[in-house]
Amino acid sequence: MHPTFIFLIFVLLLTTLPQSRCQPNDPVCGQQPYNCGSLSNISYPFWGLNRPSFCGGGDSFNLKCHANDATTSIQIGSQNFTVKEINITFQTMRVVRPDLVLNVCSPHVNNTGLGSSLFKYGSSVYNITIFYNCSLSLDASFGHFSCGNEITIFRDGPQDELLRKFPWIARCRRYVEVPVDVPYDNSGGLDFLQQAFDSGFPINYTVLNNPKSVTGATVAGLLICIAIFYIRYRSSNCKGDFGLATKSNKNIEAFLQNQGALTLKRYKLSDVKKMTNNFKVKLGQGGFGIVYQGKLSNGSPVAIKMLNEAKNNGEDFINEVASISRTSHINVVTLLGFCLEGRKRALIYEFMSNGSLDKFIYRKGPEAIAPLSWDNIYQIAMGIARGLEYLHIGCNTRILHFDIKPHNILLDDNLCPKISDFGLAKLCPRNESIISMSDARGTMGYVAPEVLNRHFAGVSHKSDVYSYGMMLLEMVGGRKNINADASHTSEIYFPHWIYKRLELDTDLRLEEEIMPEKKEIVKRLIIVGLWCIQTFPNGRPTMSRVIDMLEANMNSLEIPPKPLLSSPTTSLPESSIS
Ligand SMILES: *[C@@H]1O[C@H](CO)[C@@H](O)[C@H](O)[C@H]1NC(C)=O
Ligand SMILES: *[C@@H]1O[C@H](CO)[C@@H](O)[C@H](O)[C@H]1NC(C)=O
Ligand SMILES: *[C@@H]1O[C@H](CO)[C@@H](O)[C@H](O)[C@H]1NC(C)=O
Ligand SMILES: *[C@@H]1O[C@H](CO)[C@@H](O)[C@H](O)[C@H]1NC(C)=O
Ligand SMILES: *[C@@H]1O[C@H](CO)[C@@H](O)[C@H](O)[C@H]1NC(C)=O
Ligand SMILES: *[C@@H]1O[C@H](CO)[C@@H](O)[C@H](O)[C@H]1NC(C)=O
Ligand SMILES: *[C@@H]1O[C@H](CO)[C@@H](O)[C@H](O)[C@H]1NC(C)=O
Ligand SMILES: *[C@@H]1O[C@H](CO)[C@@H](O)[C@H](O)[C@H]1NC(C)=O
Ligand SMILES: *[C@@H]1O[C@H](CO)[C@@H](O)[C@H](O)[C@H]1NC(C)=O
Repeated sequence: MHPTFIFLIFVLLLTTLPQSRCQPNDPVCGQQPYNCGSLSNISYPFWGLNRPSFCGGGDSFNLKCHANDATTSIQIGSQNFTVKEINITFQTMRVVRPDLVLNVCSPHVNNTGLGSSLFKYGSSVYNITIFYNCSLSLDASFGHFSCGNEITIFRDGPQDELLRKFPWIARCRRYVEVPVDVPYDNSGGLDFLQQAFDSGFPINYTVLNNPKSVTGATVAGLLICIAIFYIRYRSSNCKGDFGLATKSNKNIEAFLQNQGALTLKRYKLSDVKKMTNNFKVKLGQGGFGIVYQGKLSNGSPVAIKMLNEAKNNGEDFINEVASISRTSHINVVTLLGFCLEGRKRALIYEFMSNGSLDKFIYRKGPEAIAPLSWDNIYQIAMGIARGLEYLHIGCNTRILHFDIKPHNILLDDNLCPKISDFGLAKLCPRNESIISMSDARGTMGYVAPEVLNRHFAGVSHKSDVYSYGMMLLEMVGGRKNINADASHTSEIYFPHWIYKRLELDTDLRLEEEIMPEKKEIVKRLIIVGLWCIQTFPNGRPTMSRVIDMLEANMNSLEIPPKPLLSSPTTSLPESSIS
């Protein structure tokens, strides 16, 4: 025979060989049940042990039968699973990840990947995401346990959705998604997880009857992949659509990558237009840009801050995303997403129906707002203190806000206060109390003396305490601490005015009488406020101490020294004017 002919026959044989694989109806091997490890009555498409591969449905169905410990395992993708059950009739099996059962704390635990189109999660399967190495857990809907000294938390749901909903978990160092099918229970902690891992989860498998359909499936799979890739690419947000992407945008992109902030939802400008109904309802405006009211596609209301285009290389944008994407606290506003497209930069926040605190304090102008009760004022003071304490010591990185003032405190439907506007914020290591800063930042009237004049003292978290104190005094006094339309220049320095009233025990508000039972709240707020605005940072309490003082027994509160007259004379542009 001619060698070419032999070669052709050889090729023909090779290409037809797969079809000689035994078929489900093959009476000889495929349908004969056999036992493997713990399992009995196994048949096609599974093979392994004494059953040769040509009797099975392909490499994916190779069972490893361990006689010594009577277990059966299978490798799917790169993962090794223990098989607990196989149901040939219904084409399902129940598998367990032995690595998780053995040591859920292992730093080598990976996501579960089925990595093959032949296997699908059963319909009852859902993911639990485990977040390792978290600094703290603040949400009771998470289960938790510890791995050594590290706090580990978990919650039902895929990781990206959880990260979107609870941006603070981005601080956990590592996440793993694990499929389970027992009902979620956060209270069981590690025991619940162990039980869920032990029972494993169901997988449906697909039997391919001949190699043609394998080819068909591969081609179809490939087409689907290409389609998905294309759709993803098309909807992959704002990147460089306009060729306007400036150098600073590249820096921002690099920064976002670095921060892992891309776990925040990124929106296209066209989405933002849709959400705001083409920027129809304006909520506010300031030095930073304009805030519009909007609606997400699921109907939840949002506030969308469009940052000014020309400003400082997007530093305010970076500040805001960097600071706030690290936080999750009931008293800190939640950033839901952002948009970065050409020169348009938008930040998307949860919507606060009652607007900012200033309109409740100053109550000027025609839109008369019902005044806050003293209990409301106390609760708001407490909430802001808790939010600030959290920013100062609650995260791995200390966040200094540098622009605490009534405009930047938002109130939800229940008048729960949330700290917002992190455009001037600074991040710094927690072990460093004094920070270096080249510029003066803040708003006149609230800015601490050391921020205006570095020779005075070092800038630190105590600078936020000062602003908080000034705001507290305004809340009590029901007026601005500096009179913008100061008609009489002889006006007394506001803290002195308050101090005088504290000494004389006279009412603060001329237009209203304070009920005797509320006088204590008022006095307490004044004392705390005056401590906070002590001229030298060392004389001011930390935010934790402020909370203690707000809760403490009245008799234990010392009257602070009268603040030195330090009404700032340097003029500082208002950073954000509403
Ligand atoms: C073995 O499995 C087949 C289905 O593949 C089923 O019909 C049969 O009843 C099973 N036999 C035993 C002994 O469980
Ligand atoms: C898979 O896990 C089993 C334990 O369930 C183990 O006996 C087996 O050696 C593992 N196989 C591989 C390839 O890691
Ligand atoms: C397979 O699953 C079905 C439905 O859950 C069940 O009725 C049947 O008994 C199972 N068969 C085996 C062999 O486990
Ligand atoms: C937590 O982080 C430390 C340091 O990065 C690492 O050594 C340790 O393995 C981590 N723990 C877990 C459970 O991931
Ligand atoms: C987890 O994934 C990493 C990276 O893909 C790999 O190096 C490691 O071996 C995997 N660990 C296990 C237990 O499969
Ligand atoms: C898996 O198989 C079961 C039993 O045949 C079926 O009820 C279920 O819908 C299947 N799930 C998926 C995701 O295909
Ligand atoms: C669970 O997470 C994995 C990635 O780890 C993903 O492939 C799978 O589709 C998710 N399953 C469900 C039911 O969401
Ligand atoms: C705060 O908002 C809620 C809901 O929008 C409203 O019912 C309530 O009257 C507001 N409170 C004040 C004090 O305006
Ligand atoms: C703070 O901690 C970092 C890293 O642990 C260290 O490099 C730095 O010197 C520390 N600073 C102070 C003031 O202790």
